[in-house]
Amino acid sequence: MTDVLQRTAPRSVPAPWLERPAGLCYGGDYNPEQWPREVWAEDIALMREAGINLVSIGIFSWVLLEPRECEYDFEWLDHLMGLLTDAGISVDLGTPTAAPPAWFWKKYPQARPVTREGMALGSGSRGMASPSSPEYLRAATSITEQLARRYGSHPGVVLWHVHNEYGAPVSESYDDSSVAAFRDWLRARYGTLEKLNEAWGTLFWGQKYGEWDEVDAPRVAASVSNQAQRLDFKRFTSNALLKCFIAERDVIRRHAPGVPVTTNFMATNCLSPDYWAWSREVDIVANDHYLVAERTDNHVLLSMDADLTRSLAGNRPWMLMEHSTGAVNWQGRNIAKRPGELARNSLSHVARGADAVMFFQFRASRYGAEKFHSAMLPHAGTGTRIWREVLDLGDDLNKLSSVKGSTVRARVAILWDVESFWAQDLEWRPSSDLDHRERIEAYYSVLWNQGITVDFAHPEADLSAYDLVLAPALYLIGEKAAANLREYVDGGGHFLVSYFSGIVDGNDTVPAGASPGALRDILGLEIHEFLPLREQETVSLSGGSGSGTVWAEDIHVGSATVVSRYVDGPAASGPAITRNAFGRGTAWYVSTRLDDGDLAAVVLDAAGAAGIATAPQPPQGLEVITRSTPTDHFTFLINHSDADAEYPASGTDLLTGAAFEHTAVVPGGTVSVIHAPEGNS
Ligand code: GAL
Repeated sequence: MTDVLQRTAPRSVPAPWLERPAGLCYGGDYNPEQWPREVWAEDIALMREAGINLVSIGIFSWVLLEPRECEYDFEWLDHLMGLLTDAGISVDLGTPTAAPPAWFWKKYPQARPVTREGMALGSGSRGMASPSSPEYLRAATSITEQLARRYGSHPGVVLWHVHNEYGAPVSESYDDSSVAAFRDWLRARYGTLEKLNEAWGTLFWGQKYGEWDEVDAPRVAASVSNQAQRLDFKRFTSNALLKCFIAERDVIRRHAPGVPVTTNFMATNCLSPDYWAWSREVDIVANDHYLVAERTDNHVLLSMDADLTRSLAGNRPWMLMEHSTGAVNWQGRNIAKRPGELARNSLSHVARGADAVMFFQFRASRYGAEKFHSAMLPHAGTGTRIWREVLDLGDDLNKLSSVKGSTVRARVAILWDVESFWAQDLEWRPSSDLDHRERIEAYYSVLWNQGITVDFAHPEADLSAYDLVLAPALYLIGEKAAANLREYVDGGGHFLVSYFSGIVDGNDTVPAGASPGALRDILGLEIHEFLPLREQETVSLSGGSGSGTVWAEDIHVGSATVVSRYVDGPAASGPAITRNAFGRGTAWYVSTRLDDGDLAAVVLDAAGAAGIATAPQPPQGLEVITRSTPTDHFTFLINHSDADAEYPASGTDLLTGAAFEHTAVVPGGTVSVIHAPEGNS
C-alpha cells in the first residue's frame, strides 16, 4: 500500500454488497459467549421472531479462540455458526483483534500503547496494542489467518468485520516501535531531513534536526510542540492503523475471495482516522452511530453523521453497523430513547442510504462495563416496549425492501477534512471559542431545517456535481485543495466560506501575505487582523443581517462586494459579510459567528443564487429526504415533533399502505415512506 494517504474519492471498483440477506439487513452485535449455551437457542428463536437476518459475532473473542498462543479452540464458534446458519441468519464474522488476550500483554509488554505523557496502558479492558507493534501485527494476522482458513468458505459468512472501531480507544502511541515507524514514514514523505526541517519550520525555537534519529514522536514537552510535527504524527497514526486493517483484510481475501470485508467507522467522531483514505480500502462502508443523547437536536446530528457516511461510501449503499435501541452507558447523562425514537433513528439512517440497520447489541450484558447499555433484548426481556419496537422495526424494514440499492442525490456539499480539524485543534489558536464542529453543525442544521439534502466532500474531491459548496470550517487548505476550490468557483460554482478558513497550508504554516491565503482571490478580500470577541460579546451587523459572536475581522475588500458591515465592536464600519464574482462563479464570506436565524438568511441567499431553494420548507421537526432508483422515488418523511405534519407528496406509504395525493400527513413521532414511480413524485 501507499504511505501517502489518498483522500479524494472512494475506490473506483464498485463495492460488492452482501450476497445475502435478500432485503435490508437487520440485526446487531451478538456476544453469546457471555451466556450458557441453552440461551443461544432461545436467542436465535427470538431473532427469527424479530426478523433479524444478520449478526456480527466474535468481535471480542480472541481469548476464547486462542486461549494460549498458537493453541486454538473453534468448537464453540463452529456450533454457533451452525445454529445461526440453520436458522437462516447470516453472519458478519469479526476478527477479534481489538482486544488481545491477557497472555499477549504478559508476553509482549513492549507492545502496550504509550500515551503522549509517556504512560504505558494496562490490560484488563479492551483496546489494541500499539498500531506499529510487530508483535501485535504478527499475532493479529495469525488469528485472522486461522479464522479465515476455517470459515473462508463457510456458507453462513456473508461479511467479514475486521477489528472494532480503529482509533478508539487506541490511536496515537508513543512507544519505541511507533517512533521508529514514524521516522520511516517521514523519510518516505520528505526524502531528506532538509525537506522535513523546512516543512516543519524547525528554525522556529531552534528545533532543527541534524540526524534522523533525533526526530521523535511529538510527546508532551515543556511548551507547545511543533505543530507541523503533531499534524504529521496524526497523519502517520491514521496510516499506521489503516495498515493494520489492510494486513488483516488481505489475509481474509486470500481465504474468502469475493466475500466483502469491512470495519466499523465512527464517521464524525473526533477520535476517527482519516476515513476518506479508509473508505478506499473497505469493500463496504460501515458506520457506528450513537446519539448525543442530551441534545434535543440529536436527530439532526444523526442525519449529519449518516450523510457523511454516505459520502464516504461514494453514494453507494452503506451499513449502519451499530446504534442503540435506548440509552448508552458512557455519556454523562444516558437519556433513554422515547417511544418511536428507535424507529425514527433507524429509518433516518435508511433514508440517507443505509441498507443495513444493526444495533449494539442483541442481548444486554449482565456483567462488565456495558451492563447499563440498552440492547435489542433488554434485561427485562420480551415483555418490554423496546422488544416490541424491535419487532415493529423488523416489520418495517421488511416492508422497505424495495428501497435497497437506491441512492440519494444532493446538490449541496459541505467540505469535511479531518486534517484541518486535527490542525485547528492544536494549541495556541487565536480564540478558544473557535470550534470547527460547532460551525459545521450550524451550517448543516440550516440546510436540514429547509429539507435540503447535503453531501460531504473532501476539498480535493471533484465538486463539479454540486451547485453550492460550503466551507464552514476549513482552517487548513493544502495546495491541491486550493487549486481544486479555485477551479470549482472559476467554473461557475457557488462557494460559501465561514471565518477561520484558508488560514494555513498543509504544514500548518501561514501562506505568505494576508489571510486567507489560498482563498484571498476567490473571496476578493484580505484580512488584516483577527479580532476575536470576548465571552458574551455581541457585534451588530448592518442591513438586517443580525448580530455576531465569537469572532470578527478587519477585512479589506478587493473585488468583493460588501453585503453587510459591522455596526459596532472592534471591526466597526468594516465588512462583515461579502460576495465576490470569481470567474463564472460566486464566493461568499461570513466573518463572524451568526446565530441560526441570521445564518439561515445568508445560506438561503447563496442557495437561491445557486438555484437550489426550490423545495417547500418542511414544518418544524419534519425530516425530508428522498432515495431514488432510475424508476422509483422513496420519500422518507420522519416526524420528530409531537404534532402531525403535512408535506406535499403523492404516492403510497410503504409502511401503512395509505395512499396520498398531493399532500401526505405524517402523525407526530411517526415515519412515512412515500413510494412514487418516476414522474409521479
Ligand atoms: C461502540 C463499540 C461497541 C460498544 C458500543 C457501546 O463504540 O464498538 O463495542 O462498546 O460502543 O455503545
